[in-house]
Amino acid sequence: MTAGRNSGKPEPVAVPAAPLAERVIAWQRRHGRHALPWQQTRDPYRVWLSEIMLQQTQVSTVLGYYQRFLERFPDVAALAAAPADDVLALWAGLGYYSRARNLHRCAQAVVAEHGGEFPRSAQLLATLPGIGRSTAAAIAAFCFDERVAILDGNVKRVLTRALGFGDDLAQARHEKVLWARAEALLPAPDGMVAYTQGLMDLGATLCSQRAPRCTACPLTDDCVAKREGRPEDYPVKTRKLKRGQRAIMLLWLTQGDQVWLVRRPATGIWAGLWSLPEFDSSDDLWQALSGWPGTSEVLPGFTHVLTHLDLLLQPVQHRMPTSAQREAALKERWPDGRWVERRELAAFGLPAPVTRLLGRSDQLFAAQELVDQTEPL
Ligand code: ADE
Repeated sequence: MTAGRNSGKPEPVAVPAAPLAERVIAWQRRHGRHALPWQQTRDPYRVWLSEIMLQQTQVSTVLGYYQRFLERFPDVAALAAAPADDVLALWAGLGYYSRARNLHRCAQAVVAEHGGEFPRSAQLLATLPGIGRSTAAAIAAFCFDERVAILDGNVKRVLTRALGFGDDLAQARHEKVLWARAEALLPAPDGMVAYTQGLMDLGATLCSQRAPRCTACPLTDDCVAKREGRPEDYPVKTRKLKRGQRAIMLLWLTQGDQVWLVRRPATGIWAGLWSLPEFDSSDDLWQALSGWPGTSEVLPGFTHVLTHLDLLLQPVQHRMPTSAQREAALKERWPDGRWVERRELAAFGLPAPVTRLLGRSDQLFAAQELVDQTEPL
């Protein structure tokens, strides 16, 4: 201490805040999630599976699916060898079905191109089907302690708020800058697991979109958005989704214990799943049914919400007598269609609202979890 400054009163000492990563890690160790099944392993197959399932889907929904998947496909070779239909059937209800198709393709690529072992770097992981930059980083951080940044939707919210990053993420150049800022914040390798999980946990719990709980947040002291009093304004992204509506008639055609299902096209909504025949208008449906033996009943309509679109689904049930021989005509109209016994239905991948519709009259489908899922087109 220099003599001239010795006024007898201690100077306030500015204690620098611990770097952001240290605070996230300390918070994660005390308050974060530790008991999730995919946190009990460093097996990249299991971590990858969880990360794909957790994209756009909540933990509570994923838990059951994750367990069933691992029972049926205990390793990447088992998944790669499975028929695509079995994978889709087990995925049914989780939504975003392109994830299931990529999951299967990715398993096949790991077997065919990497000798059945997942690559051990984020850069190589990101070359596989369905693994984007953030997912690759999560797997590499969780399994191999690699110092790579994740930046999914939740983490963008946490970091843009903490940093006061107000540039529009609809522009790729701004997103690139945020990636670089995220990389600059990374801790040493031994902190990567807790740090990565901590950012995810903060985004999923305290740092919510509308009502962030800043008082409990480890970043509150120097969170720019908190200081500005407007955390809800981050992240900035100008492109807004335009929501639309579409009305679809569903034909629920039965004959005895069988229901007529058609395979949906490989692209578009519910791509590759089995579903009921669809019509764009009631005129088309009634025209198709005219002259068919049996009785028709218009059932209550319902709405199924997708990311960009509300589907207004109007089912019509038509019961054909078992004596009616219509298979050839049905095959001609829907070459990709077939009769399916009700008891077989659980083995088919059906869109969640169709499972719900068919399951309404009985509980045959208890094995399938019914969740309302949003899905991009
Ligand atoms: N969301 C994405 N990845 C996750 C993980 N590993 N744990 C919890 N939620 C997640």
